[in-house]
Amino acid sequence: MFYDAHTINQELLSFIDESPVSFFAVRNMSRRLEEAGFTRLLETESWQLQPGRAYYVTRNDSAIIAFRLPEGAPTGFQIMASHADSPVFRIKTNAEITVNNAYVKLNVERYGGMLCAPWMDRPLSVAGRVMVQEDGATKTRLVNIDRDLLMIPNLAIHMDRTANDGHKFNAQVDMLPLFAQVSDAKDRFLSLIAQAAGTSSENILDTDLYLYNRMKGTFYGIDNEFIADSQLDDLQCAFSSLRGILDAAPSSAVAMHCVFDNEEVGSGTKQGADGTFLQDTMARIREALGIGRQAFLSLLASSFMVSADNAHSVHPNFPDKADPTNRPVMNKGIVIKYSANQKYTTDAVSGALMRMICRKAGVPYQTFANRSDLAGGSTLGNISQAHVSVNTVDIGLPQLAMHSPYETAGAKDTAYLAEEARVFFSSAVKADGRGNYQLL
Ligand code: CO
Repeated sequence: MFYDAHTINQELLSFIDESPVSFFAVRNMSRRLEEAGFTRLLETESWQLQPGRAYYVTRNDSAIIAFRLPEGAPTGFQIMASHADSPVFRIKTNAEITVNNAYVKLNVERYGGMLCAPWMDRPLSVAGRVMVQEDGATKTRLVNIDRDLLMIPNLAIHMDRTANDGHKFNAQVDMLPLFAQVSDAKDRFLSLIAQAAGTSSENILDTDLYLYNRMKGTFYGIDNEFIADSQLDDLQCAFSSLRGILDAAPSSAVAMHCVFDNEEVGSGTKQGADGTFLQDTMARIREALGIGRQAFLSLLASSFMVSADNAHSVHPNFPDKADPTNRPVMNKGIVIKYSANQKYTTDAVSGALMRMICRKAGVPYQTFANRSDLAGGSTLGNISQAHVSVNTVDIGLPQLAMHSPYETAGAKDTAYLAEEARVFFSSAVKADGRGNYQLL
């Protein structure tokens, strides 16, 4: 194995702790890519690309595509896609609500489908993006109020005797965080954000701000075999994909590391998998390398996409929730996901190619399907197909407590996926158009 499990998870947990929301994840990935010699491209400019070089581009500061060009004419594209967003609470405009002339709480709404209960009774803070008016322009500033700032307190058991019998959470009532004791000062929340953005409240034109869990990532279990942190879905995959492209050897295909935003709300944004970010980037690569449309389409037929989004491990307390014969376990390797209705794109071809990649990388793999009487979730693989139609497999790493602000995963699995990604980005898939595929 190329990666040491403890070291790569320490890196992963610090990466997550530095990345409370997608804007920070993208900024931290950009920094690592630049340190490794990837050149930044801007969507506002036309691109001059050199064979053998590596580049990255961001969209909306919340999605990123990094790619490495082969020395010669490309034989295809090796794409690995994941997402940077997680279910979270968004802070609404005019956030302050005064209660009983005693307390100030903040008005928030749901972003995605989170587990509500674990957001309560733990220190939270705020991070996101602020648009600031400066020198006649509007400029982006990322802010992170890096201290314990907020809490969503539970209602005492004495006031809700049925609290332990299943609780229905009302996002407008149950989930508003306590921010301050009432004081004479007005708009303290906006002032705090302005201060963090290095400006004054009047200069803030708009904001994208979210709550985040302050608890740092950790290892646990008798052998430290488990990791816990916020956003393991899907930063565990995004980070492993990043490690893979950073450490990959040159191949004959274009290696592409893609991290999209807004997967948790259906991907239908310009920076989501249902936007044009990937196809636009591929079109620019094609033009910059002088590849004709015919040649480009034949490259797509010899391309492969790994859609990497975390999967469910068998739960120790709820083993019956798992399918009878496809039961992933943490630390037992990459999960290949199947769904007959193609919510997961895996079919026999892409499943076979994925197994070949895992075998080449020497990493274990296992399979997942939902119980036939459960609907299950969706992901970005099949959404991306409408824009870039290539053989695609849906995979993930097995985890527990998906969509909690503090999730659990297996420490070995991070190293397995990084190794799979490294080998994948160092390889190329050659299709003959007659149902035969070679991994080069
Ligand atoms: Co996910």
